[in-house]
Amino acid sequence: MSDIQKLTGFIGAELSGVDLTPPVSPALSEMLNAALGEHGVLVIRGQHLDLDRQRAVTQAFGPVMRLPYVAGLADDADVIAVLKEADEGNSGVFGGAWHSDFSFLENPPAGSVLNAVEIPPYGGDTVWACQVAAYASLPAHLKDFLAGHDAIHVGKPYGVKYAPPEKERANSAIRMTRGDPEADRETVHPSVVTDPATGRRALFLNPIYTTRFDGLTEEESEPFLEQIYKHCTRPDFSYRHRWQAGDLLVWDNRMTLHYATNDYAGFRRLLYRTTFSGARPV
Ligand code: SIN
Repeated sequence: MSDIQKLTGFIGAELSGVDLTPPVSPALSEMLNAALGEHGVLVIRGQHLDLDRQRAVTQAFGPVMRLPYVAGLADDADVIAVLKEADEGNSGVFGGAWHSDFSFLENPPAGSVLNAVEIPPYGGDTVWACQVAAYASLPAHLKDFLAGHDAIHVGKPYGVKYAPPEKERANSAIRMTRGDPEADRETVHPSVVTDPATGRRALFLNPIYTTRFDGLTEEESEPFLEQIYKHCTRPDFSYRHRWQAGDLLVWDNRMTLHYATNDYAGFRRLLYRTTFSGARPV
């Protein structure tokens, strides 16, 4: 018998009594998608899925999406090994600043799945922030401003001023393509998006990939972005996950931001990530 427990007031739910090893039935798929729409992040512990099962679970949420500009596994390019080796010291981590995955694509991922394989004895938590709650409580003058301004996203990657310096942005075990002109071009998205399934509205701006607002320069956009980022990453809207090997987490990439903490130098950390697509944000 499955059970769903909320993890915070705004974001995250833990599902228990769920075994994702057998094929995902239509009823389970419906329950998983409804729970993701409601909670933004799903935590399912004790799964220890192999990559075929991870793919099958990912497909329950949407078609598996192969990401550009980051190398997948040699024998399965749809899967990214989010890996930091023990000897990488305090170099950066993949995803070590608030972001939604690949928001600079014309149609960014609808969601992602992380499957924990090897976890440090402490540290390496991931934090998610609910952008539905962030939008709902945004001061009225910022809501009015966003209603009239779409945002520009660029995938340089990590090319913008709120992201950490280049050498701290990714660990060396992950191969990112740099300087690809296709990734560097500007993509316009609404600053506030609506979830087609639930009708909920969320901020869709992030410090790694959003450079400015359409019609404004970076300098003109900065004071607005600064206020919004301070608001939308507040701990009140967040869930911080302490990983255990075997955990499977799924998140809605349109309704949440996430952040990988970099505090486990000397230990290896490995998770497999898959991504699923959906309709373009509106
Ligand atoms: C990511 O997908 O951004 C990485 C998250 C993590 O390693 O915790």
